Amino acid sequence: MRIIVTGSIAYDYLMSFPGSFSEHLLPDHLQRVSLSFLVDSMDKRRGGCAPNIAYTLALLGERPVLMGTAGQDFDEYRHWLDTKGVDTSLVKQVPGKFTASFFCSTDRDGNQIASFYTGAMAHAAELSFGAAGKCDLTIISPNDPTAMAEYARECQALGIPYIYDPSQQVARIGGDDLKRGVFGAHIVICNDYEFEIIREKTGMGEGAMLEHATAVVVTKGEKGASIMLRDKTIDVPAVPPWAIVDPTGVGDAFRGGFMKGLAIGADYEVCGRMGSVAAAYVLEHLGGSSHAYTRDEFDARYAEHFGALPR
Ligand SMILES: Nc1ncnc2c1ncn2[C@@H]1O[C@H](COP(=O)(O)OP(=O)(O)OP(=O)(O)O)[C@@H](O)[C@H]1O
Ligand SMILES: [Mg+2]
Repeated sequence: MRIIVTGSIAYDYLMSFPGSFSEHLLPDHLQRVSLSFLVDSMDKRRGGCAPNIAYTLALLGERPVLMGTAGQDFDEYRHWLDTKGVDTSLVKQVPGKFTASFFCSTDRDGNQIASFYTGAMAHAAELSFGAAGKCDLTIISPNDPTAMAEYARECQALGIPYIYDPSQQVARIGGDDLKRGVFGAHIVICNDYEFEIIREKTGMGEGAMLEHATAVVVTKGEKGASIMLRDKTIDVPAVPPWAIVDPTGVGDAFRGGFMKGLAIGADYEVCGRMGSVAAAYVLEHLGGSSHAYTRDEFDARYAEHFGALPR
């Protein structure tokens, strides 16, 4: 099965400020803010929804094809993905631009001040499924909103089954585009908060969505996920992690595990459980792709919670 994973490709620059931001935000001077925080640590991590999802699929033995735009600074990321079993041949590097970058400073109270630079991601609409070759399954995950709308249109025209995953971009996508994305989708996936925003913006609940999609998957953090089908709803429990080190990429890992289930022809309940297991590993590590496991380790962990995983 040739799986194409679309979405953002980014670097995360994470900094920690040993003080408290709020002590420096003077309420009487907010009309002219000029602040610089001396941070005492910085970490640069490989990020972006699409590589995170593709990485989980690769860990589970697939050879997903990553489709997205990155910048002149992508070479080492490409090399790393290549060595992990992700096909990066559909990643276009845009000369003169940086890869999308997330700059986030966290203070000692856990407050964050962040900026996201779109960089090369703004070119994502230049890529096309028409030029991507055979595709048996794809996911349209958070990316440049124009590109997301375009990919959905192309998949509909080409008859490619797609998982519509607007996630954090629900804030930036208008109701009409959301509707169009949902209408042609094989599966819709988002978290519970995003589901409410989609409902508000489109006026569609799960019933209306299921007139088009075969499943609507709503993730609910430590409460697991609900998979809504036309005739029933399946509740999938979360898998408790040994420790919660960092939640970055947990939703992406769930999607990767879920898609591996689809690739092996598993039923939706098994797909959801595979998502839960894949997500637990991510919580236990810093970043969305610093964890690793073998297929046997994954299967054993699955079995511990859900019984033997059908192969
Ligand atoms: N605290 C937790 N313990 C166990 N599993 C969790 C926890 N948080 C999330 N998960 C797993 O990850 C899945 C996705 O989580 P969640 O609903 O928080 O996604 P999200 O809000 O989209 O995350 P992200 O921050 O990555 O965008 C859940 O369905 C669950 O299986
Ligand atoms: Mg999410």
